[in-house]
Amino acid sequence: MIFVTGGAGFIGSNFVLDWLAESDEGVVNLDALTYAGNLRNLEALAGDKRHVFVQGDIADRMLVDRLLAEHQPRAIVHFAAESHVDRSIHGPAEFIRTNVQGTFALLEATRGYWSALSEPERSRFRFHHVSTDEVYGSLAPGEPAFTETHPYEPNSPYSASKAASDHLVRAWHHTYGLPVLTSNCSNNYGPYHFPEKLIPLMIVNALAGKPLPVYGDGQQVRDWLYVGDHCSGIRAVLEGGRVGETYNIGGWNELANIEIVRTVCTLLDELRPDPDGPHERLITHVADRPGHDRRYAIDARKIERELGWRPRETFASGIRKTVRWYLDHPDWVADVLSGSYREWMQRNYAERRA
Ligand code: NAD
Ligand code: TYD
Repeated sequence: MIFVTGGAGFIGSNFVLDWLAESDEGVVNLDALTYAGNLRNLEALAGDKRHVFVQGDIADRMLVDRLLAEHQPRAIVHFAAESHVDRSIHGPAEFIRTNVQGTFALLEATRGYWSALSEPERSRFRFHHVSTDEVYGSLAPGEPAFTETHPYEPNSPYSASKAASDHLVRAWHHTYGLPVLTSNCSNNYGPYHFPEKLIPLMIVNALAGKPLPVYGDGQQVRDWLYVGDHCSGIRAVLEGGRVGETYNIGGWNELANIEIVRTVCTLLDELRPDPDGPHERLITHVADRPGHDRRYAIDARKIERELGWRPRETFASGIRKTVRWYLDHPDWVADVLSGSYREWMQRNYAERRA
């Protein structure tokens, strides 16, 4: 078995679905079901005995100790986190609690479990920490993309909390010998993406004829990766990555936010034309995010060289699949646009002046 944390969130649920489509090895899935966790993402696994879902907190030591003892996983893949930069600006405390203290508690539980394993289980065991390129800070135009040795320069409460968790994971390897792997990935997009993040927000708002809020000048650059490619990258690292190493995962796909929004609009014009006119008319420039990182870009040569991994989707193929997925899943969309979502939209956007 493998033990996954945060497997009801965006990337975690894609990972669990892909994992069980590719192998018969079971998954224990521990997720607190915060606003970002959604059991509907895992509906396709209903009745599948290979998937054991447990609602709970990674910081609950007794619960994690019990689950590890009971299921004896050969690996942990740690996705659980608070993940939205704008929420971290409004309320950083939860980011420190889950991303830093939660990861610490999980590492300690893992260390206890792993130390008691017999050989060869001990050497076979892996703790895979899923992290972000945002820990490296912001790049100037033309600066080389982030390699694994780029200095850590986090700028938001979110990225600082993820950087702290990366450091804990590194130290647990260096000090206690825990067999860890870390991957730092660029911005993901795809099915089950919660519509507080750029791409799903633009799709959902455009379909509803609502404004498409672009922060500042919209020239901030991100390196976009289709979520299925991130999942295959994690599997490659888990299988063949060298213990204690970090692997950057990215899409070789740098695009400015405004280009992303225009692409979504063009696709919707084709797939779901709006009688009131092209969707681009809904683009609205709003106040910028404080401390907004200008550019992220991943140098993904190490994972390609060592593990033969490359993304399969281009941005054109991945974004088309994604827009289609949202068009084909209106019930999922309606379900997530609940009361707490509306409250967040009000809090984050009401005070941004055009
Ligand atoms: P998400 O916000 O969609 O999902 C996070 C999941 O973690 C949710 O299901 C939530 O219920 C769960 N969770 C939160 N706190 C928990 C706790 N204390 N105990 C147990 N479960 C808890 O996030 P995501 O976009 O799927 O990101 C997953 C991981 O990948 C995160 O660690 C994130 O930092 C990292 N990452 C994300 C991206 C991206 O573009 N989304 C890119 C690189 C790395
Ligand atoms: P986001 O999806 O929140 O990911 P991250 O901040 O982790 O990169 O945002 C992606 C980019 O889109 C980021 O530069 C901020 C910008 N953005 C907007 O312009 N408008 C929005 O409404 C949102 C949510 C993001």
